[in-house]
Amino acid sequence: MTPALRRALLAWYDAERRELPWRGTRDPYRILLSEVLLQQTRVAQALPYYRRFLERFPTVGALAAAGEEEVLRIWQGAGYYARARRLRALAGQVVRSGWPKDRAGLLRLPGVGPYTAAAVASIAFGEPVAAVDGNVRRVLARVHAEPEPGPAWLERVAAAWLEPARPGDWNQALMELGARVCTPRNPDCAACPLAAICRGRAAPERYPAPRQRRARTEERWALVLRAPGGVVLERRSAGQLAGLWGVPMGPGAAPPEEVLARYRAGAVKATGTVSHAFSHRRLVVHVFRGRAPKGGVAPAAWPLAELDRKLLRAAGLEDAAEGEA
Ligand code: ADE
Repeated sequence: MTPALRRALLAWYDAERRELPWRGTRDPYRILLSEVLLQQTRVAQALPYYRRFLERFPTVGALAAAGEEEVLRIWQGAGYYARARRLRALAGQVVRSGWPKDRAGLLRLPGVGPYTAAAVASIAFGEPVAAVDGNVRRVLARVHAEPEPGPAWLERVAAAWLEPARPGDWNQALMELGARVCTPRNPDCAACPLAAICRGRAAPERYPAPRQRRARTEERWALVLRAPGGVVLERRSAGQLAGLWGVPMGPGAAPPEEVLARYRAGAVKATGTVSHAFSHRRLVVHVFRGRAPKGGVAPAAWPLAELDRKLLRAAGLEDAAEGEA
């Protein structure tokens, strides 16, 4: 990062930045409130909550003196209510002990993590520390063409980049660049003050590499009912397996009574669980076995998903599962 590029980024920020209400102040209370709101909320959505909160609690003392119910009521709609509870606890501590003077002190306040501590320390106190949020992470990863920007890498690169003379503006310039120019999709590289040194420019979507999403686990019941002719199967009409055939299946840990009545299944018996991974979901299926008076077909004659073969196997129908019934 050359001095000329630093100047270019700060000049871009000075010219292009949005005039946000927390940008004209060095009041740690206001800056902290903005950072806490922006942790989980976009700028446009956060603005009305920011104003409403300050109207009712204009100072940290006013917030400390308020009851939790009222704080939550004012926060209502902003979501992630633990943030509001922690802010109130933080206000109490600040009223008792005063504002900390630096990042290390801020980190000891309730609800303040490394990002928020660095953001408030740099913006409100002018402490030369880098604050890396999701936007900054993307900018750094792209400029360096780094697909896997880990925490240690980010800390090192962000610290090396930091402009110590204007740390708060520097951090916010990178955030602003990430939010407005170096966007996740279709970044506007022509407008970017860092384009000249950006090594990721040819393929920005590769930096950082998309995170592996943790598969969600969902619970299902499945009914494997033997009936004259084979097993009760039906065509799935919705979801990942739409169009394939399978055993009756539904959400939850056990089939409801009305489902059992619909198939005229008598008593059914739990026979274990089957796990199955789709690309973004993981199913845990509780398998129940029983008999029905009709509706049986030969599984081999129908297109079955791998999941249903597993379910048939779990119910002891090995042959049906292999398509030889
Ligand atoms: N996101 C979080 N904090 C921000 C700030 N101070 N400016 C712009 N975007 C942000």
